[in-house]
Amino acid sequence: MSDNNFEIDNAQWYSPTSASPIIDGYRPMMIGAPADQADESYRPLTDGFARRLTYLRLSITDFCNFRCEYCLPNGYQGKRPDDELSVPEIATLVRGFAQVGTKKVRITGGEPSIRRDVVEIIKTIKQTKGIETVAMTSNGYKLGKHLASWQAAGLDQLNISMDSFDAATFYKMTGFNTLPQLLADMDTLLTTTDIKLKINSILMAETAFENLIQAIDYVKDRAVTYRFIEFMQTSDNSDLFFAQHAQSDIITDYLLEHGWQPHQRGSADGPAVEYSHPNYVGRIGMIAPYAAHFCDTCNRLRVSSQGKVHLCLFDQGNYDIRQHLQQNDIAGLVNTLHSFMPIKPEHHHLHDSNSGIMHNLSIIGG
Ligand code: 5AD
Ligand code: SF4
Repeated sequence: MSDNNFEIDNAQWYSPTSASPIIDGYRPMMIGAPADQADESYRPLTDGFARRLTYLRLSITDFCNFRCEYCLPNGYQGKRPDDELSVPEIATLVRGFAQVGTKKVRITGGEPSIRRDVVEIIKTIKQTKGIETVAMTSNGYKLGKHLASWQAAGLDQLNISMDSFDAATFYKMTGFNTLPQLLADMDTLLTTTDIKLKINSILMAETAFENLIQAIDYVKDRAVTYRFIEFMQTSDNSDLFFAQHAQSDIITDYLLEHGWQPHQRGSADGPAVEYSHPNYVGRIGMIAPYAAHFCDTCNRLRVSSQGKVHLCLFDQGNYDIRQHLQQNDIAGLVNTLHSFMPIKPEHHHLHDSNSGIMHNLSIIGG
């Protein structure tokens, strides 16, 4: 860890007071806001494009046991770090974020459920004053085993990644032969808990249509939103991306032609446009990061399991705030978060095949 409160992981250095990168050489960075702004420490975070940032996505581990072909085709490489954020550090982090307007926290990974203290993490976040919603994204491995304890800890929403309804394709895509168990466990969730369930699947040319037809059938009587996510290119998946990337309209055209109605995205909603149909209990959603204006309603910040803030999923760098967490320094954390506001990027650069430092999404959970 450096002496600076923030540290950027790649060759480009940014000043928090200007949006232009300092490429040649290092310039020490001003940390936090001046002392005379301390009384503003409860001011909600609003970035340079008037977007209120009310949603924190917190990765609690990089490690994942799955080997999704578009993310970690050869599995997690190397040893799992032994210095992931601790529960007390997470408590400080979330208190700081809540103080400046965060209402919803999503726990992500890697695969968050591999952490033995995940229940304690859910509980800690849920008990933080100001946090209204605790959500988690998981690959659903051994979901049935965890369900009761997650519900008891206060989990409000769960997103399960499930890229196919076909067991053989699921196995091919993830390296795990667990689809039948996952489907059974999700039905248990729906019938025995009030956790709100969404299913995420990556939109790939080869599987899109079959998935859509099966998803429509699946949501007929289930209160679930099944969402497609446009395949995003990262530096690790270019070959597959060019072979399989498809645009969202292959799904949305079909939905519109078959009586499904889009719902306007509210400011507190996630990035999906959801479609409903009078004869179906559940919904079909589309997350289209390549669509125009996708980033206009961005309301989120991300923190990695090492305590680094990612201002955009596909930014060129990240910012180390761990010292504040280790020292339970909420005032310092809040000042530092405010100092990021002028430099949160307006949008990603995926259209230029530029995913920044994001080699694959296991680092920060999509
Ligand atoms: N493009 C789109 N979605 C992705 N995910 C992982 N990698 C990508 C990618 N390159 C999704 C997974 C999972 C969520 C955590 O992120 O499918 O649903
Ligand atoms: Fe698959 Fe998610 Fe694990 Fe990546 S992090 S390998 S997308 S389950």
